[in-house]
Parts: sequence; structure tokens; C-alpha cells
Amino acid sequence: MGTIVTLCRADELPEKTVRRFRAGDRDIVLVRDGDDFNALQDRCSHENFPLSDGYANKGVIVCPMHGASFDLQTGEALSLPAHEAIEVYPVHLREGLVQIELDEAK
Ligand code: FES
Repeated sequence: MGTIVTLCRADELPEKTVRRFRAGDRDIVLVRDGDDFNALQDRCSHENFPLSDGYANKGVIVCPMHGASFDLQTGEALSLPAHEAIEVYPVHLREGLVQIELDEAK
């Protein structure tokens, strides 16, 4: 298991939320859609624009710069101009807290 980092309380996030966090030396975008929480690297794989400035809908996050989209669960690039997947982080909800798991090797 990697390092567990607490980002916030779950009830601080409205049910439709895209928010930036800093965890260790990484920028994280946390997406809440109803009861689903997903955490990904906050850098588009096209030109590194922050995805947290974009929006999420129906399991996808969209980069606001050139419109690439990524699967919230896998990080897979779903549309051009991005080709490469972005990193995703396991999310745990514990005692009302949103926690992510960072792989120490990265
Ligand atoms: S920087 Fe995200 S699509 Fe170009």
C-alpha cells in the first residue's frame, strides 16, 4: 500500500465538484459526482494544462485548453489532441474523509 493522504471532508464538496489539491509534490484533481469520487493527476497529457480548470461529466473530465477528455476511472485519453493516459489515484472514504493513495515509487 502507498502513502495515504487526506484531502478534505467529503461533506465539504458539493455533489458536482472539480477541485485542485496539492498532495506531497503532486497536483491532484478531485472530482465528485454524486457519491462517486475520482482523483487524477492535475495535468493534461497534451500540454500540461490543469484539468481542474476544466469540467467533468458522465465519467469524463475535459481539458479546457484544447478539449481532450480522459476517463475518470482509468485516466485513459478518450479524445485528441491527447494520446497518453494520465495517472489516477485510488480514493478511500473513511470516517467522512476523502483520502487518496499515492504510490511512493512515483
Ligand atoms: S493542454 Fe489539454 S488538450 Fe491541450
